[in-house]
Amino acid sequence: MDRKMIVAGNWKLNGDRFLVQDFLTGFADTSFTKVSPILCLPSVYLATVQDANFALGAQNVSEHTSGAFTGESSVAMLKDVNAEYVIIGHSERRELYKESNQVIAKKLSAAIDAGLTPIFCVGESLETRESGAMFDFLTDQLLSAITEIGIAGIDKCIIAYEPIWAIGTGLTATPAQAQEVHSFIREFLAEYDTDIATNTTILYGGSVNAASAPELFAQQDIDGGLVGGASLKLKEFLEICQAAE
Ligand code: G3H
Repeated sequence: MDRKMIVAGNWKLNGDRFLVQDFLTGFADTSFTKVSPILCLPSVYLATVQDANFALGAQNVSEHTSGAFTGESSVAMLKDVNAEYVIIGHSERRELYKESNQVIAKKLSAAIDAGLTPIFCVGESLETRESGAMFDFLTDQLLSAITEIGIAGIDKCIIAYEPIWAIGTGLTATPAQAQEVHSFIREFLAEYDTDIATNTTILYGGSVNAASAPELFAQQDIDGGLVGGASLKLKEFLEICQAAE
């Protein structure tokens, strides 16, 4: 997959149908040429979106295709409501819902098989970073995905580096800290395939806002952002998209 500039908003468990409408209206007159905006809405709102000037993503998906899995949505269901992307492996799913690397790998596989593009999240806690085990930890997360989907599967993913300590805390990683990890991810992928390493889109996530976005997005290996809190504010989200143009 070609490397692109992407700004993906992750509304998490926030927003309502009026905010969806505000974003549809607010994006209607935009014409970004370089950046592709994506909004990962709560699943119940996906089907309410028509003629959006942004692409649609979901925030989670089941690894199962159908059956007795109360509360879940399948890849086919997400496609049915025009989602093109799905966030998989977000640290909140890993921590709060105990999703393991293995389950995440199965979800990546299910999404890719269905033609959805996963936004595959990796990232370390502050404790892991400070213990010096950060690169080993990230390697484990990446390796378990590659074991399931192969490097060809990674070629169908967007990767998002989200240091857990920067999510929702206002503590953005410095551009240099983020660039260091993005470069590490590319070097790791290059051990399997140099073209895929060069062409994979790698987003940074963690307290991205209109003020921090320009310098982050200017880093050599940062191809845009996965934005939480600031993606709920239309004006600021548009500014962040503009910073990636
Ligand atoms: O998916 C988005 C990330 O968790 C970042 O969230 O921008 O609110 O820190 P945040």
